[in-house]
Amino acid sequence: MKDKVILITGASSGIGESTAKRLAGAGAKVALLARRGDRLEKLKNEIESKGGKALVVECDVTRAEDMKKAAEKTRKELGGLDVLINNAGLMPLSKVEKLRTDEWDQMVDVNIKGVLNGVAAVLPYLKEQKSGHIINVASSAAHNYFPGGAVYCATKAAVKMFTEGLRQEVAPTYGIRVTSVEPGYVDTELQDSIKDDEIKKGIEDMGKKITTLEAEDIAEAIHYALAQNTRANVNAVFVMPTEQQK
Ligand SMILES: NC(=O)c1ccc[n+]([C@@H]2O[C@H](COP(=O)([O-])OP(=O)(O)OC[C@H]3O[C@@H](n4cnc5c(N)ncnc54)[C@H](OP(=O)(O)O)[C@@H]3O)[C@@H](O)[C@H]2O)c1
Repeated sequence: MKDKVILITGASSGIGESTAKRLAGAGAKVALLARRGDRLEKLKNEIESKGGKALVVECDVTRAEDMKKAAEKTRKELGGLDVLINNAGLMPLSKVEKLRTDEWDQMVDVNIKGVLNGVAAVLPYLKEQKSGHIINVASSAAHNYFPGGAVYCATKAAVKMFTEGLRQEVAPTYGIRVTSVEPGYVDTELQDSIKDDEIKKGIEDMGKKITTLEAEDIAEAIHYALAQNTRANVNAVFVMPTEQQK
């Protein structure tokens, strides 16, 4: 991990923030991407106060141009680019019949197109250097539907399938490893994006009934996938809370 340059989207909270700390603590140089620059600056200070190296790049993953610029800036200021962690996402759950179409668009734009924009921004560099690692954060929602999750689950299933297709295309040809990370219920701010009160209560109640995962657990899973010998591609890491049934 020492001196690897790792670009992490959605680094301003939850899984992205924890992953940035975990990987910087292991010696990586981390580029922190999200829209909330103040949160990223705070995280950068925390990482650098412990001897790590971090770069803040305010950006919106739905804008392909933002992602391209972020990749260029990362290469220039951190001296390379080895890993992309496509982690940014949101989960405004609701039943399909409510027709909250703005939220469907948001989920498609951030959860799916954001991942594609990230890949488009880094792939030319990784191809040229014939090495690298792309990690896409999908979800247990790619395997199982839950109430209000038809669109969210569909976006995560898309990410999971895209990740496998990408792996088959670029791992054997260019030595670029590709991993799908699929967490169950993690205690983060993700639930804050749910605007449907009934669905939100259902999700919160479910979280209270079990010991949920912490963001650090997923940071550890990501570290595991990255830390393997380059001959080993961890295709997927599917981590559920022990007490969560599906
Ligand atoms: N928590 C769970 O139970 C769980 C389970 C499975 C999978 N996941 C997945 O894990 C990933 C991280 O979620 P989390 O649980 O850590 O939630 P979180 O704390 O809400 O983090 C979401 C991150 O995404 C960023 N983001 C959202 N829209 C963005 C945009 N347009 N451009 C750039 N960044 C954007 C947010 O940053 P800004 O708002 O500052 O831009 C934030 O840093 C998501 O893909 C989520 O679907 C979570």
